[in-house]
Amino acid sequence: MASKLLSPAPVLARQCLPKLPARTGARLHLPQRRYISAYGYEQAKALTFADYGNPPAVLSLHSHSISPPHSNLMTLRFLASPINPADINQIQGVYPSKPTFTTSLSTANPIAVAGNEGVAEIIALGDKVKQEGFKKGDWVFMKGPGFGTWRTHAQATTGDVVKLDDQMREGISAIQAGTVSINPCTAYRMLRDFTTLKEGEWFIQNGANSGVGRAAIQLGKKWGYKSINVIRGRDDKSAEDKLKSELKELGADVVITDTELQSQGIKDMSKEWTNGGREKIRLALNCVNGKAATAMAKLLSSSSHFVTYGAMSKQPLTIPASMLIFKDIHFHGFWVSRWAEKNPEDKKATVADVLEMYRKKEFKDIPVDEIKWEWETKGEELIAKVKDTLEGYREGKGLFVFGKT
Ligand SMILES: NC(=O)c1ccc[n+]([C@@H]2O[C@H](COP(=O)([O-])OP(=O)(O)OC[C@H]3O[C@@H](n4cnc5c(N)ncnc54)[C@H](OP(=O)(O)O)[C@@H]3O)[C@@H](O)[C@H]2O)c1
Repeated sequence: MASKLLSPAPVLARQCLPKLPARTGARLHLPQRRYISAYGYEQAKALTFADYGNPPAVLSLHSHSISPPHSNLMTLRFLASPINPADINQIQGVYPSKPTFTTSLSTANPIAVAGNEGVAEIIALGDKVKQEGFKKGDWVFMKGPGFGTWRTHAQATTGDVVKLDDQMREGISAIQAGTVSINPCTAYRMLRDFTTLKEGEWFIQNGANSGVGRAAIQLGKKWGYKSINVIRGRDDKSAEDKLKSELKELGADVVITDTELQSQGIKDMSKEWTNGGREKIRLALNCVNGKAATAMAKLLSSSSHFVTYGAMSKQPLTIPASMLIFKDIHFHGFWVSRWAEKNPEDKKATVADVLEMYRKKEFKDIPVDEIKWEWETKGEELIAKVKDTLEGYREGKGLFVFGKT
């Protein structure tokens, strides 16, 4: 894993450096300034944890140095890294993909860097990396989970990253590149890989306001599929209506709340939407579970597919046996990390396809709550923002945007 490849000699690195004032401007009554080493050592900060637990309780901002890259190593400077639900689950210790706990970031006890997705630029690279076609200034995203992306800088190998070719990167913002590899890919593969929807056929999904949900709406529209989109109801009706309109503008045909989905009249409403039931609802995408997911399955046509990819409500998924026996509904799970590991070239092609849609203005950015991370930004501020993402309804996905680091 990448973290094993991080400079094994950060302590030595510090010994080699000339004696400098400690980077604590506050003590010297000076503004904090970033020290750029003449010896090529990069100063870095990362949100790390030593134990699994509630993110605000276990996260801390850790500073360390990265030695100059040689051979197959490169130094990355992060540009944008989202806070995804899986990142939170990983810190809580309930995500199947575990990060690497390491002492290579100059700590006595092993720590792990949080975050799984993001885009970084190469700021220095070893000879072997150059021979593999990488250059300074290239943008890369992480090949798989567990690298640790909530950090200003990192040392990586070519095996840790996927390069965005110059052509792929053209016209793409750091926010788009930093959020393209998980959610849009998940929506894309789920719409394509479990059944072949024909133009005019329907899919239904919950969590429709999520990054995955918004991507599915847009991809579905582009490919000619119709969609029923289930959102969580809001106490504030005007906020609920605003969200419904927003998703319709993205391409949703129908947007309903989880309460409306479980209401008495839903079968009749569904018939109305689908031309008396003649247009089939042949695919369901579920990231919520609980009763609302069961209600969603009940709207599917016989022999349809129901794909579960998340568990936002933390409720189990309950399926009446009749759905399996008589309606022949096929239940699947999907995990983009496993899919990408088995299909690395398809992953790259999927990302390239979505980036192309961004370029052609066929795909809109997800709403984000930008969290500026400058060199001086305090750990408490960053951790408070992570805590915010755990609470209530949000206007956008939390996303670290790195400034002068
Ligand atoms: N299996 C995979 O490969 C894969 C890949 C990517 C994502 N995922 C999963 O997909 C889901 C969405 O991820 P994302 O990154 O797209 O999300 P996101 O953009 O961060 O948004 C989170 C979504 O979860 C909803 N939500 C939060 N708490 C909920 C609850 N208690 N009950 C129902 N819905 C709730 C929110 O609803 P509101 O809009 O009402 O706030 C929001 O739409 C997560 O479960 C994530 O783990 C899975």
